Amino acid sequence: MKKRIFSGVKPSGDLTLGNYIGAISNFVKLQNDYDCLFCVVDLHAITVPQDRVELNKRIKDIAALYIACGIDPNKAHIFIQSEVPGHTQLAWILECHTYIGELNRMTQFKDKAQKLGTEGLSSGLYTYPVLMAADILLYDADLVPVGEDQKQHVEITRDVAIRFNNRYGETFVVPEHFIPKVGARIMDLQEPTKKMSKSESDKGCILLLDEPQVIRKKIMSAVTDSETEIYYNPEKKPGISNLISIYAIITNKTIDEVVEEFKGSNYGTFKRAIADKLIEKIQPIQERFKEIRNSHELDVILDRGREYANNLANRKIEQVMQKVGLGRF
Ligand code: TYM
Repeated sequence: MKKRIFSGVKPSGDLTLGNYIGAISNFVKLQNDYDCLFCVVDLHAITVPQDRVELNKRIKDIAALYIACGIDPNKAHIFIQSEVPGHTQLAWILECHTYIGELNRMTQFKDKAQKLGTEGLSSGLYTYPVLMAADILLYDADLVPVGEDQKQHVEITRDVAIRFNNRYGETFVVPEHFIPKVGARIMDLQEPTKKMSKSESDKGCILLLDEPQVIRKKIMSAVTDSETEIYYNPEKKPGISNLISIYAIITNKTIDEVVEEFKGSNYGTFKRAIADKLIEKIQPIQERFKEIRNSHELDVILDRGREYANNLANRKIEQVMQKVGLGRF
């Protein structure tokens, strides 16, 4: 039997080049060898306030972009998290097996709390890593392809799974993360010491649905440094190193090959080459997106995905309820 993969993207903003390079491009590579579930994790989006119309639009945008980026719905299952009640059912049960101390150590929450204070943050934002654990454990996923920023969340998932298994007997597969060697943390083009992110967005963040001329402009105005030589050193040259990673991933080359290719070139030439390749990569994705976004086919795919996911989820929930002693059996 094939091993299983679960991963997801939350529809809290438009898809970025970081999402593509850190996660979705790997989903595409892994889909041939695993039983894959790729989810639009909409319940995660509402941990912060959302406009309901925008949110609803983005849910299907992401599903369509999964396919446009190369996920084959005949190989992988694509579905929407909130359409499978098992996620929230399991999340509650797991919350009762997760320590407050563990959640206090989650760096994403700590960073937000430090910036904004905790008074106005939702408790969903605090317990969000447990919902993520439920997403993964519900399907007995063996592997979770994610970017670097999600590593800690996969680790807490493992801890909770091990704890549960120790207490109730083998119930969950303890998952591994799959974090790519290159591109696990694509940086903001304007502030290359910060992660490229849809919430910080604007000039430093490339969106998969940006117009080609916008992509070119963002790359050409990417912050670099006062040297002239192109080489990879993320500490010393965060801007150029980020651009090297982007170019390496979209052209399927190694970092060394990219550095060799641009030996002696100036930054302008290098940036033009990146913009050309990026547009070459993204334009067909955008065309496919337009074809599929409002098609009946997309709904059929999502219905099929929901059914597959619900079947697996319901079986797991039944097993978990029995182990814990909930309901009637
Ligand atoms: P989200 O929606 O913020 O991001 C989706 C995926 O994109 C990766 N990513 C990046 N990779 C490299 N460079 C970047 N700048 C960059 N920005 C984002 C993320 O690491 C992620 O893999 N909690 C998750 C969603 C989630 C999930 C799950 C993932 C919910 N349940 C279960 C895996 C399994 C999140 O907020 O990702």
